[in-house]
Amino acid sequence: MLDNFVSLTELEKMAEYADKVRSLIKNKSLRAFVITLGCQQNEADSERIKGILVSLGYTITDDEKIADAIIVNTCAIREHAEKRALSIIGRYKHNKAKNPDTVIGVCGCMSAQEHRSEHLKRSYHYVDFAFGTGSLHRLPEFIYGALTKAKRSFVLDTERPQIAEGLPVVRECAHRAWVSIMYGCNNFCTYCIVPYVRGRERSRMPEDIIKEVRELVESGCKDITLLGQNVNSYGKELDGGYDIAYLLREISKIEGDFWIHLMTSHPKDASDALIEALSCKSVANHFHLPLQSGSSPILKRMNRHYDIDRYLEIIDKLKRQNPSITLTTDIIVGFPGESDEDFEKTLEVIRRVEYDSVYSFVFSPRKGTPAYSMEDQIPEEIKKERFERLTELQNEISRKKNEAMVGKTVRVLVDGKSKNNDKIYTSRTEGNKIVHFEADKDYTGQFINLKIIRTDTFALYGEI
Ligand code: SAH
Ligand code: SF4
Ligand code: F3S
Repeated sequence: MLDNFVSLTELEKMAEYADKVRSLIKNKSLRAFVITLGCQQNEADSERIKGILVSLGYTITDDEKIADAIIVNTCAIREHAEKRALSIIGRYKHNKAKNPDTVIGVCGCMSAQEHRSEHLKRSYHYVDFAFGTGSLHRLPEFIYGALTKAKRSFVLDTERPQIAEGLPVVRECAHRAWVSIMYGCNNFCTYCIVPYVRGRERSRMPEDIIKEVRELVESGCKDITLLGQNVNSYGKELDGGYDIAYLLREISKIEGDFWIHLMTSHPKDASDALIEALSCKSVANHFHLPLQSGSSPILKRMNRHYDIDRYLEIIDKLKRQNPSITLTTDIIVGFPGESDEDFEKTLEVIRRVEYDSVYSFVFSPRKGTPAYSMEDQIPEEIKKERFERLTELQNEISRKKNEAMVGKTVRVLVDGKSKNNDKIYTSRTEGNKIVHFEADKDYTGQFINLKIIRTDTFALYGEI
């Protein structure tokens, strides 16, 4: 278990690099820009990256044109995500041409792949360093190498990536926060790149997580999402018999008015103990349970370790325990070998469960995963057509579910003014449904009650 964590010697070495960087850039008023692609895990990592940059003496800027250091935190989940990352990295060539002292670094899931790292090294000469998600704590070392032009670093987490506790953090939002409870994934779903780029599962110690949550709540944070690729297997490799149910029970002992969300859960590990723990105080009345496909043979080819009967059994338990629970899911359409019949089964599950929302994705073959070389790849036009049918069905369900909310009073957490209209505020319910409302007073960061007066497919409209 001890080798889950970065050693003290390594952290001390980084502190020395940090000192060196601080004295190099002292009094220079340097600015750093961080761009984040991908999921909440990357968002959480970027908050640490910004924390490290600030601790080194940089000021964070939103303007990439004036930045002295640029970090691109990349995603590799689908081909589109990688293309986008490469095109963003491409535009920083001009920054370096204009100011050769600009530090340019790439991190995240895309750069954790050997072929991508090699490509960045060979074809993007202005990139000073690239590293994977397990080497965040080494940022001071990479920046020092870049500032002194001593070396370009291209680091893969080929050894077991580890957890670095105690990294500084700059949080994006005061009332909503991410808290990683574990890193990596052991599941190797046959379509997915994550286990190859984020390494094996490793959990943080419960006391570290509880301390972080308590401090957030004390500072006024109202919505905390516990993050992991599969939070249901939290604690398995720790000594002490910890699991996610234990963690939720302990967190719910923290005093205060706040919501705890989980992101995300694997059905194969959705135990009765976890379902029971969802009724603990503070745990939000929302569960995200990725389905991926409604066909058991496809689930088998996906290596998901559950079939549809088991999946629906969990859904039924969740609904029985709390009939008003908000349910959301992830679905992949066009997995290799998916027949019309398999796809119909996915639609059937959607109709049966009536999710509040569905995050659906067209299957994208990822190099290095088993599904990349599976036979029976589905033609693009069929994938697209299925995607559209699924979206249409879900929109209908979402619209119907939203309409049923009219006249009801809901508790929301207010996020702030709407982007397009100064008088309108945006908020979210416990189940993450967006509710717009008009107000003369700014309730940002507070819980308030709204009466729903009108709805559409994607949002609700309420009044105080
Ligand atoms: N660990 C999470 C998923 C993280 S990735 C879980 O198991 O729930 C988020 C979603 O991206 C997945 O649930 C899946 O629906 C989708 N996804 C992953 N790999 C994909 C691929 N190769 N093509 C299309 N969608 C994919
Ligand atoms: Fe990917 Fe499956 Fe792990 Fe989720 S559980 S990150 S889909 S391999
Ligand atoms: Fe992308 Fe990595 Fe998240 S591949 S979806 S950023 S875990």
